[in-house]
Amino acid sequence: MKVLVIGTGAREHAIVRALAADPEVDAVIAAPGNPGIDAVALCEPLPGGLLDGGGIAALARAREVDLVVIGPEAPLVAGAADAVREAGIPCFGPSAEAARLEGSKSFAKEVMAAAEVPTALAHVCTTLEGVQEALDALGAPHVVKDDGLAAGKGVVVTNDRNAAIDHARACLEKEGGRVVIEEYLEGPEVSLFCLCDGTTVLPLAPAQDFKRVGDNDEGPNTGGMGAYSPLDWAPASLADEVVSRIAQPAVDEMARRGAPFVGVLFVGLALTSRGPRVIEFNARFGDPETQVVLARLETPLGGLLAAAATGRLGQVGPLRWSDQHAVTVVIASHNYPGTPRTGDPITGLDDVADVPTAYVMHAGTARDDDGTLVSAGGRVLSVVALGDSLSQARERVYEAVDKVGLEGSHHRSDIALAAERQELHVG
Ligand code: AMP
Ligand code: GLY
Repeated sequence: MKVLVIGTGAREHAIVRALAADPEVDAVIAAPGNPGIDAVALCEPLPGGLLDGGGIAALARAREVDLVVIGPEAPLVAGAADAVREAGIPCFGPSAEAARLEGSKSFAKEVMAAAEVPTALAHVCTTLEGVQEALDALGAPHVVKDDGLAAGKGVVVTNDRNAAIDHARACLEKEGGRVVIEEYLEGPEVSLFCLCDGTTVLPLAPAQDFKRVGDNDEGPNTGGMGAYSPLDWAPASLADEVVSRIAQPAVDEMARRGAPFVGVLFVGLALTSRGPRVIEFNARFGDPETQVVLARLETPLGGLLAAAATGRLGQVGPLRWSDQHAVTVVIASHNYPGTPRTGDPITGLDDVADVPTAYVMHAGTARDDDGTLVSAGGRVLSVVALGDSLSQARERVYEAVDKVGLEGSHHRSDIALAAERQELHVG
């Protein structure tokens, strides 16, 4: 099997790495990829960019691939998976219509309501007066979400009513601006990736992400600063419960609407005292959770994604998992999640191999004119390590992080710390 992976991040690097380890996969091509992916797969340019579905389909056809895996949300929402399927090539990724589960928070809420999926109460507002009424009706803490895609930065959670209104105003000022005001959900957050073939839902192992930029969950939201899996503190029945109460009803509702969901339904949950509640749906693998989930998946990935893309997920047997703990820590550029400084040299990557099990996934990296590896984005690297215990995995990952040099960079030092200290509980 020959697979084309679309994207540029550490998530795609982790997907490519897992595909390359699948004995059924003979070749992996990535477009446009990054310098880390280039070391394990052939990287091809995408001259029309990630939103050019026709360009992606043309590349898939020219390289005669058997499967296309689309990593990020933007091409999915723009219809890249539709273009690939129209070219007759199996694609792991939802259609533009199905990707609206991520692309429009109000659409996701509508589907959840129709499927009776437990989620936060919400008001969709188009005026500031409506926003003020919703804030008063739901009370603090206030949760204010841009309706459209915002790269993980469209959500403000605050006790400050004026800050909530300021964010809502900024969202409403965009063209066609709509804002969703939500009930605050209390409880630890979990990410669960559900592979879907339009009808069958197969959950992967739950993971936990760290969205805020600073230790102790301080500072602004980011795309994600680290993750770990498994979650020893969560109920063992969690994945099955989420499938039966959330993912399967949502997938059934999408099929009923004539927009079958094929790809990853990423269920972002709060484990509240009243049970799991959906915080958000995404239509793709999460980054950085993918780095730890795939680090533990022993079932070959290529066969799984191909089965999902061709409606055969029901024939896949139980998944096999390593019982090791995986932790990933993101190394971010100076000033991220503000406009990141780029072009700083990255050093020490070869020394990471001295740390048992540790390895590095690339995200915002590039080669400058003389071939030096430099930073080229906000989240630059995702360092991964495994261990027999969470504390061993944490020790290793931070030892590996310390080997990497990037001037001005920052990372969280408390990824998976509360879980290691057994401080987490549900609700
Ligand atoms: P989202 O982009 O919807 O995942 O939101 C980003 C982050 O905001 C989530 O990971 C949560 O930490 C927080 N958040 C979003 N919605 C809620 C909610 N209803 N209650 C509490 N926190 C929320
Ligand atoms: N880590 C969360 C996301 O990918 O949206």
